[in-house]
Amino acid sequence: MYNSKIIGLGHYVPDNVVTNDDLSKLMDTSDEWIQERTGIKERRHVDPKGDDTTTSMGVKAAKVAIERAKIDKDDIDFIVFATLSPDYYFPGPGVLVQRDLGLKTVGAIDVRNQCSGFVYGLSVADQYIKSGMYKNVLVIGSEVHSKGLDMTTRGRGVSVIFGDGAGAAIVSREEDNSKGILSTHLHSQGQFAEELALLAPGMGGRWVNDILAENNPDDTSYMPVMNGQLVFKNAVVRFSEVIMEGLTKNELTPEDIDMLVPHQANLRISQFIQKKFGLSNDQVYNNIMKYGNTTAASIPIALTEAWENGKVNKGDLVVLAAFGSGFTWGSVIMRWS
Ligand code: ACO
Repeated sequence: MYNSKIIGLGHYVPDNVVTNDDLSKLMDTSDEWIQERTGIKERRHVDPKGDDTTTSMGVKAAKVAIERAKIDKDDIDFIVFATLSPDYYFPGPGVLVQRDLGLKTVGAIDVRNQCSGFVYGLSVADQYIKSGMYKNVLVIGSEVHSKGLDMTTRGRGVSVIFGDGAGAAIVSREEDNSKGILSTHLHSQGQFAEELALLAPGMGGRWVNDILAENNPDDTSYMPVMNGQLVFKNAVVRFSEVIMEGLTKNELTPEDIDMLVPHQANLRISQFIQKKFGLSNDQVYNNIMKYGNTTAASIPIALTEAWENGKVNKGDLVVLAAFGSGFTWGSVIMRWS
């Protein structure tokens, strides 16, 4: 049995910066409210007339990760793409990456686990590598949220939180079992499926003829909904649980953590976890202030920045943790190598 490890990271965000003041021109909100509740100062939105898509941003992030991994793109054996905002209903973005990066006809899988998507994706990559089936797996998390948000006061409870962006990692074989990804831990609780969701029925849920016949301008099923307080309360509990689950599995304690990269859902959630585990500001990487919540892209963007800033080094115990729609949650415990 091998372990797996991350050997290359990259990210891409659109140039277009949208500040809280910009949003307050579109809806009844304020910089003060948004910063106080979430910590967010600004986020990136794709140019509505530009070329950025969930796939193209993922491809840009992947190119950086491949270059940094110092591998040839033909060495990639498998693609895992996590997103809740795919370019097409089907096929998913994994195959578009295979085409747009000009990869061999390797397998591609799409992960639909929202904010936990990248953690789930890493787990998939880890297992394929551990089993010996693949050597190099490309894992991408990418989202275009801005095109699907209700930018009026009606949607303010959701739309101020989310931003666009992409991150990617090359996960590769690690021969030393004490290094790389030590374990991953995944959970779901569908009881809360509708509490944080976009409830537009899938093709299996509603006849397209009925939708066309209704032609209802008040149909809000194409906009995300969120029971923010319920999500918050569950998030702080599940983040803590799943981090402890991972540490315990590896006979480690919170004191062993060198760097925690939590999914960037809300700065207040990250601060709660930081306090609970007794970590310093240098031991938790946050960038929600700049990008908002980029769902499946949030952990790979944050991990890339942490690595670029020299905050993740060989031998460090790095912990990733996520919670989001589903509800789903998970953690990854890594010894950086
Ligand atoms: N600007 C101004 N006022 C607002 C805004 C806004 N953008 N949004 C809501 N309000 C108002 C509400 O209407 C409400 O007004 P009322 O008291 O008159 O009814 C008041 O502010 C309080 O609203 P709450 O929703 O109770 O605010 P809360 O303190 O819970 O903060 C927030 C909302 C930031 C969304 C918080 O609940 C949160 O972060 N929840 C967790 C989000 C999360 O972790 N998501 C998971 C990942 S996402 C994914 O998986 C896709």
